[in-house]
Amino acid sequence: MTNTIDRRTLLRLAGASAGTAVLAGATLAGAAPAGAAGGAFRHGVASGDPLPDGVLLWTRLTPTDEAQPGSGVGPEAEVTWQVAADPDFVTVTAQGALTTGPARDHTVKVAVTGLAPATTWWYRFGYAGAWSATGRTMTAPPADADIDRLRLGVVSCANWEAGYFSAYRNLADRGDLNLVVHLGDYLYEYGTGEFDAGGSVVRPVLPAHEVLTLADYRIRHALYKTDPDLQALHASVPWVITWDDHEVANDQWSGGAENHTPATEGAFADRVAAARQAYAEWMPVRTGADGAIYRRLRFGRLAELSMLDLRSYRSQQASGSAVDDPARTITGDAQMSWLKSGLAASTARWKLVGNPVMIARVDLATLPAWLLGPIGRLLGVPENGVVLNPDQWDGYNADRNELVDHLRATGTRDVVFLTGDIHTSWANEVTTRATGTSDPAAAEFVVPSVTSDNVNDFLGLREGNALSVLGADLLRATNTHVRWTELDGHGYGVLEVTRQRCRMDWYHLADRTRPGSASRWVAGWSVAAGSSTLRRETAPQA
Ligand SMILES: [Fe+2]
Repeated sequence: MTNTIDRRTLLRLAGASAGTAVLAGATLAGAAPAGAAGGAFRHGVASGDPLPDGVLLWTRLTPTDEAQPGSGVGPEAEVTWQVAADPDFVTVTAQGALTTGPARDHTVKVAVTGLAPATTWWYRFGYAGAWSATGRTMTAPPADADIDRLRLGVVSCANWEAGYFSAYRNLADRGDLNLVVHLGDYLYEYGTGEFDAGGSVVRPVLPAHEVLTLADYRIRHALYKTDPDLQALHASVPWVITWDDHEVANDQWSGGAENHTPATEGAFADRVAAARQAYAEWMPVRTGADGAIYRRLRFGRLAELSMLDLRSYRSQQASGSAVDDPARTITGDAQMSWLKSGLAASTARWKLVGNPVMIARVDLATLPAWLLGPIGRLLGVPENGVVLNPDQWDGYNADRNELVDHLRATGTRDVVFLTGDIHTSWANEVTTRATGTSDPAAAEFVVPSVTSDNVNDFLGLREGNALSVLGADLLRATNTHVRWTELDGHGYGVLEVTRQRCRMDWYHLADRTRPGSASRWVAGWSVAAGSSTLRRETAPQA
């Protein structure tokens, strides 16, 4: 896909509601601000899951002051929408109207169809004579199109209380992305002060307590959607998202979670149902008839993107030899079959996998105690010498072996896992114990957290301190398939996909606690088509 927008136009439209007000005033002379004080569309606009002929559009209407998120009250109201080929809506290509109300927390989702492929589109919503901010999105190329390049922003783990979402702002300001891939922990479930935030709360969450009910999850989603940096990135480019555990509760598995106590918090199934309903309402994601969100999107012959759900079907976390038990699963049988057959049969050059938790092996056995403590805390394992993180693929060895062996057996190459969850930056070659470190079967690029704590935050030291650097060196020394890791930075990744290679660049923020923090390039790694061996890049991608 080709971006046709210039950077200045994008900044004006993505960021400034003032610009949109001028636009609305020009087209709807004399229109008063609609809805409650603060505007009818205060939670911004978003798009997601682009197809060759359509895209999903999202917003939330606040028609009256009492119609607050999670309140369950407020009137039914009609919202109009428009999609245009130009940012001034001179040529409106598609439009319609739909009714929303308290049953869906006044959220609005429109699956627009009938659009031309590989095209930049502009969209907005209308209510009572006023328009929302204008969003920009794109349709995917035709399935058989030979496209040259894709550029993706890659993010995960945004703890509201730990800082500001400058990572989202910096990605929005680039103006060169086709897509943002979010790998989960879009939000966290904890009450204020209950989750690591470098020892202090930069900005408190709403509700102040841990989210548990449908109203709670709706309020937490709504809080996130008031963030101007998050709004800017949603409005500038379509997102493809999946969830990890914190969209429900820490270390979620199919029947429970570490951070769920049935005796005091009720049935886990009720909590999951509440979290999923709020997620479906508030996120620009397509869900299957059964609520499933693992799905595959295609971008011409260049790439397919398989987004995984590694929480809904997994067995309970285990330790010791149980991690090898073939009866335990991280994907569930149906998703594993879908993943294996989809990767092997794909006619796309690159098979990208949106993978919420790390698939590369991590052996912590030889790490010293001072590092094992912070690493163990980061990975959610005891600090007394456990050698792996049972919450990532390390805890589900049989599933990892099955998938990696399948890639080898079918000769499936050019598989790249895009991973979040562990708040740190990694470039890994994916191997199994049986095959050793030679001839890796796939590549894995792990992006750092947008804000959530990592090693230096746990150590109480500055980023890039000697202990964190030594820790990264030790991790690499004991895991030679880990080609690079950095344990302190917060930020994002930018993935560039061409026919010849797939390349990730990592950018880290100067200061997550400061709004508008700049980011700097820290590393780039690439994998050439036909190989799964990583190569270090020496300069930022142009
Ligand atoms: Fe996280």
